[in-house]
Amino acid sequence: MLGFILLLIVAQVVICDSHTQELACRKYDIRALDFWRNGGEIGYINIRGNSGEYHHVFREINSAGEVWLHFGRQGQVDWNYINSISNLSPIILLQQRHIDAISDFHILDYAIDTDVDFYLQADDSINPSLLKVSRISDPATMFEIKMDRGGNHAHLTFAPGYFDRIRCTGASNSNTCGQLNKPPKDQNTDPIIIWEANFRPTDTDLGATAINSNGVYWHRNKFTWNGTKYIVKIKIEDQK
Ligand SMILES: *[C@@H]1O[C@H](CO)[C@@H](O)[C@H](O)[C@H]1NC(C)=O
Repeated sequence: MLGFILLLIVAQVVICDSHTQELACRKYDIRALDFWRNGGEIGYINIRGNSGEYHHVFREINSAGEVWLHFGRQGQVDWNYINSISNLSPIILLQQRHIDAISDFHILDYAIDTDVDFYLQADDSINPSLLKVSRISDPATMFEIKMDRGGNHAHLTFAPGYFDRIRCTGASNSNTCGQLNKPPKDQNTDPIIIWEANFRPTDTDLGATAINSNGVYWHRNKFTWNGTKYIVKIKIEDQK
C-alpha cells in the first residue's frame, strides 16, 4: 500500500516536471514534500486549519488523492464489556484538541470506522451512564445523551447500519426515549460523533437504582461496549 502511494507521489512529481501548469505543479510539490518531511509515510503531521492554527493530526492521502484526517482510538484490548454492570472510568474517544482540530476544517465528508458493539439499558431503573457527543454539523458543541430513568428495557444502541447515530428503543411507551437528548422511541439522533462513553450503571452516588419486588437487580442497568476501535475520519480535500 505504502509503496503504491509513494509511486503515486513520484508519478505526480514527474508529471509536474514535464508539464507547464505551474500552480497545480506547486501543489503537488508541497504535498510530496510533506510526505518526504514526514518520513514518506501516511501519518502525523502539523496542518493548518481555517483559523490559521496548526493541529497535530493523523493524515491519510488515499490513492484517489483525497485528504482525510483521522481521530479516535484503535487497537483497544480492554473494550470487552458485554452485559456488564461495572462502573468504568470515562472511555475517552476524542479529546478537546481533537475536537478543536475537527472544528477547524471544512468537512467535505466523514466516516466512522468502528467495530464497537454498544448497548445501554435501563429497565424500570435509573442508570446514570451517558455519552458525550456533538453533531457532525456542529462538532464543537458537546451535549450529553443520558440513559437515566428507563422502563421496559429502554436502551440505546448504534442505529442499525450506522455508527454515526444513536437509536433509542423500548418495549412500550412507558420508556423514556425522547428525554435527556435520547431520540424518540425507535428513532435516531442526528449524525453525531462520540467524545466520551461514561458507564456508571451502579453508581448510587450518581443516583443509580435498580430495585424491583425481588430486591436490587443491577443487571437492569447492563451495558455492552465491545470492540477495538472508534475512529472519526473527516475528508478535508477532494482529489486534485
Ligand atoms: C467482542 O469484540 C471482539 C473484537 O471485535 C470480537 O472478536 C468478539 O466476537 C466480540 N464478542 C462478542 C460477544 O460480540
